[in-house]
Amino acid sequence: MSTVHINSKKNDFSDIILMPGDPIRAKYIAENYLNNFKQINKTRLMLAYTGYYKNKKISVMSHGIGIPSAALYVRELITEYNVKKIIRIGTCGAVRDDINLRDIVLGLGASTDSKFNRIQFHNHDYSAIADFNITYNVFLAAKKMNFKIHIGNFFTTDSFYTDQDMLGILKKYNIVGIDMETAGIYSVASEFKVQALSICTVSDHILKKESVSSKDRESSFDDMIILALESTLLI
Ligand code: HPA
Repeated sequence: MSTVHINSKKNDFSDIILMPGDPIRAKYIAENYLNNFKQINKTRLMLAYTGYYKNKKISVMSHGIGIPSAALYVRELITEYNVKKIIRIGTCGAVRDDINLRDIVLGLGASTDSKFNRIQFHNHDYSAIADFNITYNVFLAAKKMNFKIHIGNFFTTDSFYTDQDMLGILKKYNIVGIDMETAGIYSVASEFKVQALSICTVSDHILKKESVSSKDRESSFDDMIILALESTLLI
């Protein structure tokens, strides 16, 4: 059984999947955190693996950049591979003064400039929200591990190089993270009645014009991976 974009067998995936944007990160997670892992997809180099974290069967697969890419992979994983719980682990931009580089943010909801949800929702405004139970489990895991997290509204944009005027509006409306996938992942998950949450580490403070160095990028990514993996043990 394979889809247009995923060349895996029906039972290759766990029902729980961690999804970074970058295939190299998917490989990194499998190699550094999963036991007995096996590569299950390499079509378009969108690498996917299944293995075990503390005896829990977990899959990891990259979703690429932007809603069109993420939404199609998420949809095929749900409809063809029975995936039920999706945790996006990505990087995001920030605009708020109280949110710093390397902070971890959870997207309770996701506003967007993308038309994707309007296409699906007959031009009405869809309120894209995270699954409460996954969010609660990640919240509990973060408390246990003493990780500081911010929980709030994301802004999912189709344009990485956001217009300067828009940044002020995002700050005014208390946006915790700017990414390019979450609003689409949440609506597809809702459509098929599965659970999804986006967790991101802040890689760019867009207003302060700061970015995480490539060395720190890896260690801040590690905190988020552990947080996501530990939260799956509470399911
Ligand atoms: N904008 C959108 N997506 C991002 C950003 C950003 O500034 N940083 C990391 N992903």
